[in-house]
Amino acid sequence: MVVSGAAADTGIATALPSEAASRLAWHDLECGGYEADLALWRELAAAQQGQVLEVGAGAGRVSLDLARAGHAVTALDHDRALLSAIESRRGGAVVQAAHADARSFSLPGCEFGLCVVPMHTIQLLRDRDQRGAFLRCARTHLRRGGLLACAILTRVEPFDCRDGGVGPAADSAHVDGLLYSSRPVRVEVRGGEIVIERERRILGARDGSGSVGEAEEERMVELVRQCDEAILAQLRRAQLEREAQAAGFQVEPARAIARTDEHVGSTVVMLRG
Ligand SMILES: C[S@@+](CC[C@H](N)C(=O)[O-])C[C@H]1O[C@@H](n2cnc3c(N)ncnc32)[C@H](O)[C@@H]1O
Repeated sequence: MVVSGAAADTGIATALPSEAASRLAWHDLECGGYEADLALWRELAAAQQGQVLEVGAGAGRVSLDLARAGHAVTALDHDRALLSAIESRRGGAVVQAAHADARSFSLPGCEFGLCVVPMHTIQLLRDRDQRGAFLRCARTHLRRGGLLACAILTRVEPFDCRDGGVGPAADSAHVDGLLYSSRPVRVEVRGGEIVIERERRILGARDGSGSVGEAEEERMVELVRQCDEAILAQLRRAQLEREAQAAGFQVEPARAIARTDEHVGSTVVMLRG
């Protein structure tokens, strides 16, 4: 929902970004700064033989980190704009981008020692049929004894500050002359789903106006305001483990990623192919 106008109405010189460019900017802002899980993925990658597959790799937060640590990584995602960012950011690191859907991918000739599904990507597959399709694809691409590790949100803390109550602070970043700001305003658990709503705003600088000492946002004009809803399946560890066993995996003890001041903790379901 866009509630304010385009740059042309406001005297802002900077053009509004394309859909793909703003998708990348939001992804970087909302996912790119998370680091609490990286140590675990590095540990798992170091302990496995062979190449690493990340499913739902986004702009490469995890894939690029593992590739820079010396692993050969395939980063799979269904969003071409995010995969392009991986290609332009990889430098000398060995990362292969694969444009495919997690539920139906086929990477001929590839056999991985480790497949990781960080953050809560598996919960974007909202029913057992979709997750079953992914689990079967993942198993087909793992070498014998390879590991699939999927992070899931364990404890969510519902809140609603859409009417101005106190809630989490906004994250913001400058991209191509615009200020992107994203603030979680609601987390709701309903009917087996977790709804995460964010208020997203794009602001541009007013030409030559604004006084010294004025707060940055006051010197800027709001170009876009929209609400974004991400819907995740509410998925418990035992349920995912049962679904994985049905797809032929052996369950190993789960690992934990601790909560931080800004992020809830996760459980990492560990599945041996
Ligand atoms: C929460 S982000 C996680 C990004 C990255 N793994 C990270 O940890 O920073 C989820 C990613 O999964 C991708 N995704 C969602 N559903 C997908 C599907 N069915 N097939 C492939 N990718 C998918 C999205 O495009 C997005 O990049």
